Amino acid sequence: MRSGAVPLGSTHVPAHGDVMKGAIFYATRYGSTGQYARWIAEATGLDAYDIDAGGASIGDFDFLVLGSPVIYHKLMFWKWVRRHLDTIVEKPVIVFTVSGVSAGEKLDGWIAESLPQDLIDRMHHVALRGRQDPRELTRYDRMMLIIGSLMNRDRQAAREELHGFDFMDKDSIGPVVALVERLKAGETAA
Ligand SMILES: Cc1cc2nc3c(=O)[nH]c(=O)nc-3n(C[C@H](O)[C@H](O)[C@H](O)COP(=O)(O)O)c2cc1C
Repeated sequence: MRSGAVPLGSTHVPAHGDVMKGAIFYATRYGSTGQYARWIAEATGLDAYDIDAGGASIGDFDFLVLGSPVIYHKLMFWKWVRRHLDTIVEKPVIVFTVSGVSAGEKLDGWIAESLPQDLIDRMHHVALRGRQDPRELTRYDRMMLIIGSLMNRDRQAAREELHGFDFMDKDSIGPVVALVERLKAGETAA
């Protein structure tokens, strides 16, 4: 995972003057990642597809915006990524994660557990913070989060696991939108 100075990918660059075609593919458990995907779609003009609903094939696009929540220390869509890895690694990729924690070592560790290193090395990652409403949770998730909060030494994080949180912020999609605009223009380097 790198920041701004890394090439966005050198394959699939259209001839001069053409516009690169991209799409958003996302997973969501309780809707917040879907909400971010829709905000990014509105801001960029890209279409957004829930990977569980189908509707489009990643092979049809020049670049990909992939969004996933972190659920139990893993990116929810890690199996889907592995299944489609051959296609994904051919293209410039922006990954946005949605989590309780903000960007940092914990999140980096969970990403490293979820995605192959060669993808991590070449993708652009933007960390967004989500929402958790205890009233929406399944019984199983509620119970697991109660247990998690009892075991969590970070008291603030433990409170959030127990009582929920809402860090949804439309403005935080800015870095994703900026990267999309560069990719649309066929730009491959910072
Ligand atoms: C069952 C469950 C497990 C979660 N596990 C983590 C976690 O390990 N780390 C974290 O930072 N956030 C965790 N979260 C917070 C979610 O990442 C956050 O609520 C996110 O907005 C959920 O996205 P969604 O609404 O698209 O499903 C968890 C939330 C739930 C409901």
